[in-house]
Amino acid sequence: MKHSNPSPLTARRSGPLSGRARVPGDKSISHRALILGALTVGETKISGLLEGEDVVNTAKAMRALGATVERTGPGSWTVQGVGVAGFAPPSAALDFGNSGTGCRLVMGAVAGCPIAATFDGDASLRKRPMRRILEPLQKMGLRVRETADGGRLPVRLEGARDPIPIVYESPVPSAQLKSAILLAGLAAPGETSVIEAEATRDHTERMLMHFGATLRIEPHGPHGRRITLVGQPELSPAAVVVPADPSSAAFPLVAALITPGSDLVLEGVMTNPLRTGLFQTLREMGAVLEILDSRDEGEEVADFRVRPGELRGVDVPAERAPAMIDEYPVLAVAAGFAEGTTRMRGLKELRVKESDRLAATAEMLRANGVEFDIEGDDLIVHGRGRVPGGGTVVTHMDHRIAMSALVMGLASERPVTVDDAAFIVTSFPDFVPLMRRLGGDL
Ligand code: S3P
Repeated sequence: MKHSNPSPLTARRSGPLSGRARVPGDKSISHRALILGALTVGETKISGLLEGEDVVNTAKAMRALGATVERTGPGSWTVQGVGVAGFAPPSAALDFGNSGTGCRLVMGAVAGCPIAATFDGDASLRKRPMRRILEPLQKMGLRVRETADGGRLPVRLEGARDPIPIVYESPVPSAQLKSAILLAGLAAPGETSVIEAEATRDHTERMLMHFGATLRIEPHGPHGRRITLVGQPELSPAAVVVPADPSSAAFPLVAALITPGSDLVLEGVMTNPLRTGLFQTLREMGAVLEILDSRDEGEEVADFRVRPGELRGVDVPAERAPAMIDEYPVLAVAAGFAEGTTRMRGLKELRVKESDRLAATAEMLRANGVEFDIEGDDLIVHGRGRVPGGGTVVTHMDHRIAMSALVMGLASERPVTVDDAAFIVTSFPDFVPLMRRLGGDL
């Protein structure tokens, strides 16, 4: 999609947020369900799929590569897969829009297939690093035919006829990188291993096992894992139920914590421990996140009741970053409303998200009168229990900056405006109506 007309939006101090809400399906799981479904022989049924633009672009890419992907109802999709290494050459460039996850995971899947394909995306995705993915995939036999400067998109790739299994020690904590290698490893004989110093979200591993692949997952060092996949499995179709995305739940959740009188229930939120760093941090800040019910729906999920409380500043350790990497902008908002200093350590990876999210978060705070410092890769927010607001936030094509700034404006003294709310559709298409229904003045 071309976002030619920016759509500004303003959030104003609101009354209590109340009611029940279910945020859309998890973005990471939605991408993986479509991609793994396409690598399976037979029909995979998916329910609760996130119908945000990022995931829809992955669905289109799977169709362009030969899978049959159909929407059968709201959130209900079917995928007729072509099997591991069964992709057909696409007739046009694959356009992943704003999505690093879609693009990088599909690069991995294509690397194990003897076809050529061009990968492209929007201006934000064209700025993001791809060498981190291409280098290990080249070791597995991928050929990189063309790239823009710095190995960036658009890139033209040719997958391997006989992919080579590797043991790869990941230099960055990235689930996208890990997943790309595992997806390429599906087509390789023997075992492909990824060693990560910090455990990152494990949805690819879980879903591969769900589809019948054999994996070994062993601890590695104090916080890491070694993941080994046995190559060339016969993946069999299996239904996927996509739980509500904790990274999307973060926005109404923080909004309710900082808006006086709120009482909100968020239903069915995934509580995979590799995704819940924000919930842990907010509890350490003094938030009461009451679990009303928890259950296993393929992933652990819970209903949360959220009410405002006194928040205080905390120190967030660097090793927690992978479990809350997408939540720092909205945590910075909560930290502005807390009393005292919150230090978020080790945010290097935030610089290479949909925007330089560390810089964009800092600009959001500055524009709205929140004091902060950046020391190396740490963001230090000096909370005063209140946020002046009154600023306009530049979102830099980043959905999470837009939603974080709007959450801030629901409780700040003066309104907060975002220059462009258009990119919210990439991950949370119903964000604005949902927040309005709960009582937010947007
Ligand atoms: C994701 C991994 C993370 C995260 C992104 C989704 C995934 O990116 O920021 O929103 O689904 O694997 P990195 O792998 O770059 O850390």
